[in-house]
Amino acid sequence: MRLDEVARSRRDPGVVVLEGFHAIKHAVRFGADLLGVWTADPAEVAALIARLAPDIALDPTVVSEAELAAVVPRAQVLAVARRPRQPDPDGILALPGPAPVILLEEPRHLGNLGACVRVAAAAGAAGVITTGVQDPWHPDALRGSAGLHFALPVARSRVIRTGDRPLIALDPTGEPLSAAVPERAVLAFGTERDGLSDELLARADARLALPMSPGVSSLNLATAVSGVLFALTALRGR
Ligand SMILES: C[S@@+](CC[C@H](N)C(=O)[O-])C[C@H]1O[C@@H](n2cnc3c(N)ncnc32)[C@H](O)[C@@H]1O
Repeated sequence: MRLDEVARSRRDPGVVVLEGFHAIKHAVRFGADLLGVWTADPAEVAALIARLAPDIALDPTVVSEAELAAVVPRAQVLAVARRPRQPDPDGILALPGPAPVILLEEPRHLGNLGACVRVAAAAGAAGVITTGVQDPWHPDALRGSAGLHFALPVARSRVIRTGDRPLIALDPTGEPLSAAVPERAVLAFGTERDGLSDELLARADARLALPMSPGVSSLNLATAVSGVLFALTALRGR
């Protein structure tokens, strides 16, 4: 692939654009099939690999700063990868094992969405399902996840679906989170401004919260996902 083809590939659902070293590093580490890598500073990329990711190999095409900035204004290295084959939402829900699935209801901020994918991967969630208009594979979400979309399945669903899993609503008004959260749960988190929908709250088997100091209304979405996943790990003694 040539650098001047990257703009068109942004509209191709079969490929993903990876902006920045960390996104590319994780994508490669978790098996990405790269179609092209470009940088204007190969020495810096080589230094980053040596310092942060000696387990990966990259062979970037060297272009001028102006050529790279015309495609991506903020990154010192850019790559395009084939979008990995991953389960659809029903496939994610059907995955075996005790790990929870993270359901993000209509997330608005792509960086936040990506940060949720990142912590879901770090904490061993089975997968991430989103609803709403945002494409969870948008380059800004991939940048937010540091490329960890390649480490676990991430898919968008048009409707709220839970398969045969219990649905747990995470909401600041809920009961304090405890180790009693069932295994294989769908852990649902609401949109940044308005929280969870009435429909989801009505369907939930339980409504749970991370207790906060008096006067604090809520946590940032990705912070809440992180707090819940790692609190559950600690509460269950794993
Ligand atoms: C920024 S908050 C939404 C704030 C919204 N005004 C509300 O009251 O729900 C985004 C999501 O993070 C989760 N969240 C935030 N703080 C939480 C807490 N203390 N306990 C559990 N979940 C929380 C909830 O799922 C919430 O819908």
